[in-house]
Amino acid sequence: MIIAQITDLHVRPHGASHSRYNTNASLEVIVDAINARDTQPDVILATGDLGNVGTIDEYVAAKEILDRLKVPYFIIPGNHDARQPLLDVFHDHAYMRTDNGYIQYTIEGFPLRLIGLDTLEDGNNNGTLCDERLGWLSDRLEERRDRPTLVFMHHPPFGVSMRPDEVSALRAIIERHPQVERVVSGHIHRVISARFAGTMATVSPSTCYAFAFAPPKPGEGLQHSDEPPGYQLHIWRKEMGLATHTVFIPAAAEAGRAHLAEGETVG
Ligand SMILES: [Fe+2]
Ligand SMILES: [Fe+2]
Repeated sequence: MIIAQITDLHVRPHGASHSRYNTNASLEVIVDAINARDTQPDVILATGDLGNVGTIDEYVAAKEILDRLKVPYFIIPGNHDARQPLLDVFHDHAYMRTDNGYIQYTIEGFPLRLIGLDTLEDGNNNGTLCDERLGWLSDRLEERRDRPTLVFMHHPPFGVSMRPDEVSALRAIIERHPQVERVVSGHIHRVISARFAGTMATVSPSTCYAFAFAPPKPGEGLQHSDEPPGYQLHIWRKEMGLATHTVFIPAAAEAGRAHLAEGETVG
């Protein structure tokens, strides 16, 4: 089984000015690159920040690009997203509509079970996992302890993008469920891997610009990096486990930066 992960698309509406990096052009190159693969993934996970401010217009533009993918794709929200506009535009993605109002769900029918978690808190760049969402995850993991599982969520469960008490609660749930092969995330716009709760947590590169390793200095925003955009392929074989390949697409950066003025940097 092959799972492709794309993340942090930050698509802007048709005709909108892109502040110095054309995220739509960058995503289009990535979509073309995935479609051009000889071996297609079984499924594609889009792990949040599909839009930049979460408007209908952004999602219409994002959907137009994503619908060109040859295989089914699944969406969870990030901090730059808004649930209702996502639901309105991606109305054909029936799995997104859940009783509890969060966009979190399981994907069954593949050798690896996939569980999407919703870490969006309106108005907060950081992620959150309230008791209700954590309880839901615990119930889902409990019902199929026999099935190897991948959990996907926008905010990574390490670093500073989630509250320590919520990370601890998540850690306790995943430690109780060793069938979790991996937790995959986005949000940081660079490739990271870390040990977490007896499994591994990884972050995929963004389909647009990358952030630098250096943590922001007080009073400054995140620093951008020249590292290229890309996506990840998570390859599952029962006898091998889950292996992740990062695929960098320099042509996507070229497309995104094509309209930068002389000497201007991404920002
Ligand atoms: Fe992002
Ligand atoms: Fe984010």
